[in-house]
Amino acid sequence: EKGGYDHFMLKEIHEQPRAIRDTLTGRVKGGQADLSREIALSPEELREIERIHFVACGTAYHAGLVGKYVIEELVRIPVEVDVASEYRYRNPILTPRTLVVVVSQSGETADTLAALREAKKAGSRVLAITNVVGSTVAREADDVFITQAGPEIAVASTKAYTSQLIAIYLLGLYLAWIRGTRSEAELAEVVKHLEGLPELAERTLQLEGAVRLLAAEIAKKEDLFYIGRGLDYAVALEGSLKLKEITYIHSEAYTAGELKHGTLALIEEGVPVIALATQTALYDKMVSNIEEVKARGARVLGIALEGDEELHKLADEVLTIPRTLSLLTPVLTVIPLQLLAYHACVARGYDVDKPRNLAKSVTVE
Ligand code: F6R
Repeated sequence: EKGGYDHFMLKEIHEQPRAIRDTLTGRVKGGQADLSREIALSPEELREIERIHFVACGTAYHAGLVGKYVIEELVRIPVEVDVASEYRYRNPILTPRTLVVVVSQSGETADTLAALREAKKAGSRVLAITNVVGSTVAREADDVFITQAGPEIAVASTKAYTSQLIAIYLLGLYLAWIRGTRSEAELAEVVKHLEGLPELAERTLQLEGAVRLLAAEIAKKEDLFYIGRGLDYAVALEGSLKLKEITYIHSEAYTAGELKHGTLALIEEGVPVIALATQTALYDKMVSNIEEVKARGARVLGIALEGDEELHKLADEVLTIPRTLSLLTPVLTVIPLQLLAYHACVARGYDVDKPRNLAKSVTVE
C-alpha cells in the first residue's frame, strides 16, 4: 500500500509529478486554461466579479496565499486570503460580485465549511477546490474543481498542496483569458511552463539525497527560521508548518524584509536560517537579507535556481531547483522543504504519518 516507501508521506511527496499532471489533464485547450466544465458562471458573470476571497485552513490556506499573488498578477482583481476560523467570525464584506474560493483537501474541515455557508448566505458565489469528490464542501459549493492528487493518507499534506497550486494557476489563467487582462500569447506562455512542471518536479525530487544529509543536522536543532519574499514567503510558511507538525522543531517564517523590525534580534551564532531566493525580481533584496543574517552568525541553507552563482558564495549550503517562471516556482520550491521535514522527522525517530495531537481531517471547530 505504501508502494515500496517507508511512509505514506514519502510516497505522496514522490507522487507529485503524477498529481500535477493529472490535475492539469483536460483543463487546457488550444494553449489556454479552460475551466468551463468546473465553473458554470458565464463569461459575462466572470467579467463582473469584483473581488476574490480565498478561505481555507493550514496548508490549504498557504495555497491561498500563493493564489493572491497569482490572481492579482494575472487578473488584476483584488484578492484577500483568510484563515477560515477567522473569516467566519469577522463579518467579511461579501457581495454577489465576490467570488469566494474555499480550498480544502478533505472537503470536510468544519471551519472551511462554515465559511462556505456564510458566503452563500450573503449571496456570493462559492468555488471549491477540493480533493474529494462527494465531500460536504464539494456538495455545497456552487462550483467545484477536483484536484487529482489521489487519496492523501499522511497527516502532513504534500501532494494535495501542489495540486491546489495547479488549480489556482488554472483559475488565474482562465479568468485572465475571459477578462482579457493578458494577451493570449502571454497566457499560452504560462500554460506551456505549467505543462512543463511535472518533469521539473521529477528533477527536483532528485535533491532527496542532498536533503537527507542536511536534515540530519537540522534534526539536532530546536529553533529555526525560514525567510523569503513574495511567493517565496508563501512557500516559507508552508515549509515551516511542515517542519513543525512532524518534527516538533520550533520554526518561524518571515518575509525577509521584516527581519530588521524585530526578529533579527534572535539571529546569533549557529542559528539555522533557510533562505528562499527563487524570485528573480526580488533576488538582490534577498541577497542583502542573507548578508544581514550571515553577519550575525546564522547558518544559512539557501534555496535558489539552477545556475545561481551568488548564493553559493554567501550561504553555507545551497540547494537548487530547476528554472521556470517566477510565478510557478512554488510548486518546485516546496519539494525540498517537504523532503527536509520528512527526513528530519525520520532522523528524530518520530511517527511521520501520524504526528502527535493532529488529525487528518478537522471536522470539529
Ligand atoms: C498540514 C495539514 C493541515 C491541513 C488543514 C486543512 O500539513 O495537512 O494544515 O491543510 O487541516 O485541511 P483540509 O485541506 O482538508 O481542509
